[in-house]
Amino acid sequence: MNDSSELRKRLSGKVAIITGATGGIGEATAKLFLQEGAGVMLVGRSADKLKETRDRLGVKKGLAHFVADAADEAATAASVAATISAFGGVDILFANAGTEGVVNPVESINRPDFEQVLQTNVIGVWLGMKYCVEPMKQRGGGSMIVTSSIAGAVGFAGGAPYIASKHAVNGLVKSAALELAAANIRVNAIAPGFIDNQMIYRIERQFSPDNPAAVREDLAALVPLKRYGTSEEVAQLALFLASDASSYCTGGIHVMDGGYTTA
Ligand SMILES: NC(=O)c1ccc[n+]([C@@H]2O[C@H](COP(=O)([O-])OP(=O)(O)OC[C@H]3O[C@@H](n4cnc5c(N)ncnc54)[C@H](OP(=O)(O)O)[C@@H]3O)[C@@H](O)[C@H]2O)c1
Repeated sequence: MNDSSELRKRLSGKVAIITGATGGIGEATAKLFLQEGAGVMLVGRSADKLKETRDRLGVKKGLAHFVADAADEAATAASVAATISAFGGVDILFANAGTEGVVNPVESINRPDFEQVLQTNVIGVWLGMKYCVEPMKQRGGGSMIVTSSIAGAVGFAGGAPYIASKHAVNGLVKSAALELAAANIRVNAIAPGFIDNQMIYRIERQFSPDNPAAVREDLAALVPLKRYGTSEEVAQLALFLASDASSYCTGGIHVMDGGYTTA
């Protein structure tokens, strides 16, 4: 790799924290960010899964990992500090960790189950933002990207905690974008539709343990493009929002759903 090809990379010289790095979207994004020249800190709650992810990514240079539950404030603060000591700063936060929770009608949801979804999907995102603001200011700006969902725009019977959490996180993104614009920190959300990875497989099984394939067929039929998206497609949108190509984007909820919410 010569110097000019390094310069052409879209994230050269930038440092990214990726939460939910052990999941489909997180790993695909880590792979792309590394290819585009970023230093990447993988954050996940399982040391074993982080090691497996690192092995699959297959690179040593520019890659580190840290174990933290997204809702654990001390661990999140420590993950940001570890990123700064490994790479010298933080330019990009991909607050992507999320859980679908238990599918249940509102009258049957247990309070701990509801709270667990909010803790991860809302409080966890806010904590990541909270501890990245100062480091990003020290770099003269940055990009925060949150993985929201089409669940932040529509309802879905049986999915109230997840739906509520993604509506809430959209509000967090919009408020943070207004607060941080003066510091040149852009804050955007990605709103994927049905994405072909473990999360949607778990949701399919929750709806129909005996016939998840039928759920998949029904969901895909609701999408104008007639298929699930891929983690790699979502990663491309994360790359755009992380890079200087999106320099005029802030406060946006960027939909990638095969047309689902337009139909
Ligand atoms: N897949 C879809 O259809 C879809 C659609 C719209 C939006 N999304 C959103 O996309 C994001 C990424 O999910 P994905 O699609 O890549 O699914 P995934 O493969 O299930 O990945 C979810 C990731 O979040 C992590 N996570 C969950 N709870 C956590 C916690 N308390 N602390 C730290 N990490 C936690 C998981 O860690 P473990 O590996 O340890 O479980 C995993 O790395 C989520 O925010 C999700 O809501 C997904």
